[in-house]
Amino acid sequence: MDNKSGSAEIVIFYFSGTGNTWWASNEMVRQFEKLGRPARAFSIEALSINEAIELIQDSDIVGFGYPIHGSDLPVPMKNFIEQLPAVSGEKAFVFLPSGYGLVMEQQWEALCFMIRALMSSGGSIS
Ligand SMILES: Cc1cc2nc3c(=O)[nH]c(=O)nc-3n(C[C@H](O)[C@H](O)[C@H](O)COP(=O)(O)O)c2cc1C
Repeated sequence: MDNKSGSAEIVIFYFSGTGNTWWASNEMVRQFEKLGRPARAFSIEALSINEAIELIQDSDIVGFGYPIHGSDLPVPMKNFIEQLPAVSGEKAFVFLPSGYGLVMEQQWEALCFMIRALMSSGGSIS
């Protein structure tokens, strides 16, 4: 699924340490495609920022998936997000596989960081 050629309506960027977010991302692609919505998932470790920006420009909806690590975002995802330029009018969604769910107050920070980053670039959250 990590084939960079061609464009997709929905593009998912994920970071996965042990495979859960990788699995969830590819399963989402499968389900979107079943609904007739072209979708593709990319590991952020296999993309340059310029490639990611091009994929965002060619898509209508962008998803970000990452596990909770130490009640926070994994560092590679944080770095990835911080390097993306502001984009306005893009729809986005976020998913966070975790061991405990968002039950611990600190873990909200891992979601809030992404929400702040998306809102400051004019995106909408779902
Ligand atoms: C280094 C490390 C730190 C983790 N820290 C947390 C945590 O603070 N809270 C939590 O709910 N889960 C934590 N987890 C569990 C992962 O978020 C969970 O297993 C997730 O599904 C892993 O996704 P992945 O397979 O895509 O890496 C941690 C896992 C690892 C490996």
